[in-house]
Amino acid sequence: MKLAVFASGSGSNFQAIADAVQEGRVQAEIALLVCDKPGAYAEKRAKALGIPVFSFLPKEYSGKVAFEKEIVNRLQQEEIDIIILAGYMRLIGSTLLHAYDKRIFNIHPSLLPAFPGKDAIGQAWQAGVKVTGVTIHMVDEGMDTGPIISQEAISVKATDSLESLTKAIQAVEHRLYPDTIQCLIEKRTSEGSQNQNEHQTSI
Ligand code: GRF
Repeated sequence: MKLAVFASGSGSNFQAIADAVQEGRVQAEIALLVCDKPGAYAEKRAKALGIPVFSFLPKEYSGKVAFEKEIVNRLQQEEIDIIILAGYMRLIGSTLLHAYDKRIFNIHPSLLPAFPGKDAIGQAWQAGVKVTGVTIHMVDEGMDTGPIISQEAISVKATDSLESLTKAIQAVEHRLYPDTIQCLIEKRTSEGSQNQNEHQTSI
């Protein structure tokens, strides 16, 4: 199974997935990092890991359709099966959604549908919630919408600060994302071999 990870920033989730691949906890290859912020730290991580990078500046294209067409070309060249969004700060458009229908996943640092959009941890902190968490979902055209795949709740302690809550959320993200990706891969692999069996018995 070949993965492409999309990131715009620090790439700590990308790193956690890459570590899980190296340790055999995720049985896949990260064949490409797609980055819309040339120079982002995620790119440096990819280079250190020997993972190819496709980095682009959206403003150099006529619009989303144009840069997503180029992304799809790159993904197809690399025979990518699944797209993993990890801090990619951009809504996915119809070009990518059609090319990778039900094969794009995202991680969000709240218990969706609460606190979608930017700065979810800050939004939850401001709201004074006692429980927040992490969600992994399938991507559709909305902002942090799409069917939920996995969630983990985190209690906000009286002694927490925004910083300690952020750290607790990141620690869960770095475990939950690789674990969920491995489950998705196992499901796809077993569905694939089931289809193959059905095909063989029908001929
Ligand atoms: C994570 O909190 C993720 O949930 C959100 O963006 C952040 C990315 O962090 N979508 P990093 O770049 O992986 O460190």
